[in-house]
Amino acid sequence: MSQPKTILITGGAGFIGSHVIRLFVHKYPQYKIVNLDKLTYAGNLENIRDVEKASNYEFVKGDIQDKNFLTKLFEEKNITDVLHLAAESHVDRSISGPMDFIMTNIVGTANLLEAARNYWKDENHIFYHISTDEVYGSLGAEGFFEETTAYDPRSPYSASKASSDHLVRAYHHTYKLPVKISNCSNNYGSHQFPEKLIPLMINNIKHNKPLPVYGKGENVRDWLWVEDHARAIDVIFHTGKIGETYNIGGWNEWTNIALVKFLCQIMDRKLNRAAGESEKLISYVTDRAGHDLRYAIDATKIKNELGWMPSIKFEEGLEKTVDWYLQNENWVNAITSGDYQKYYEAHYKG
Ligand code: NAD
Ligand code: DAU
Repeated sequence: MSQPKTILITGGAGFIGSHVIRLFVHKYPQYKIVNLDKLTYAGNLENIRDVEKASNYEFVKGDIQDKNFLTKLFEEKNITDVLHLAAESHVDRSISGPMDFIMTNIVGTANLLEAARNYWKDENHIFYHISTDEVYGSLGAEGFFEETTAYDPRSPYSASKASSDHLVRAYHHTYKLPVKISNCSNNYGSHQFPEKLIPLMINNIKHNKPLPVYGKGENVRDWLWVEDHARAIDVIFHTGKIGETYNIGGWNEWTNIALVKFLCQIMDRKLNRAAGESEKLISYVTDRAGHDLRYAIDATKIKNELGWMPSIKFEEGLEKTVDWYLQNENWVNAITSGDYQKYYEAHYKG
């Protein structure tokens, strides 16, 4: 009989990690889930309040930059599998300060790989690394990122994620570490830190603050409901092949300006404002340095091989997301006070 699983999920207090934690804790009572998170500005225990008393769940505060701590953690908890989501995740912050990204995303991933390589004695394990479509670079008007697309990262964030992907693959080829990787497009949904486009715009519209659209707003992103990403991670973890990469996307491309205008319409309706009122807040600001023009994912492989598809339409997901932010004022207020104000003023001062 195979050994019971104790899955280490890193970054489980963050946006996507909290959705993955919730899914795994509820759906798999037979697994022990250890959530390792440093609780940086992006990590928030409120995101996982509803699972903290579950008998198959444990939270550990810790830093993946600390190799000795990871070695002990694997031994103490008898970690059998890893779902690695912990990262510095915001592109703009990587431009103003790349070192945290290099230390957590590259060195932290290397530390985790070393802990797994040293602790695991056979191949009955999974080291699943969660990555981004940004490693593929930037597309023009045509084409899609496929799993075979050459890497061409262009921001410190995407370069750090690309480095970590390469390390994960190198550990598979060199040491036969049983790895899986997925590269996903832009996620949206509840519990996303309001430095990212959608929650930032919702919050600003609500408070009648300017809506800072970079450049001309013509950059294109492919948006995916975060719970669909969590479902894809579940499917890949359980049925994806060892050593393989899977792209995950929403078949849902929007220019930033079209998306912001659509959000304005939803918010006008929800806040009983006159049609067109929120759009007046749009303010075109200095573009992001090295701003990638377009991301678009070809997710045919996960669809055909593992049967995964997005479950809800963007219009429906966005309504739900807006409702969540409007109904969770305390959550938003708690994280947009203090340090967030300083970040916001420094970043948008121009
Ligand atoms: P997030 O910033 O919301 O959360 C990151 C979490 O990692 C936080 O809880 C933080 O406390 C934790 N963390 C950071 N540094 C750590 C360290 N040194 N040790 C331990 N914990 C640490 O990020 P997210 O948006 O939820 O992204 C999660 C993962 O998914 C990342 O690897 C990201 O690259 C990837 N990803 C994100 C998106 C997206 O649209 N957000 C899309 C594709 C892939
Ligand atoms: O593609 C996946 C990636 O998506 C993830 O790997 C990253 O972790 C995640 O942060 C996200 O990166 P982006 O840079 O695409 O997301 P962000 O929400 O920061 O920006 C989305 C688009 O909106 C981008 O083209 C920049 C633009 N933007 C963003 C902000 C914060 C603006 O125009 N104004 C803004 O204020």
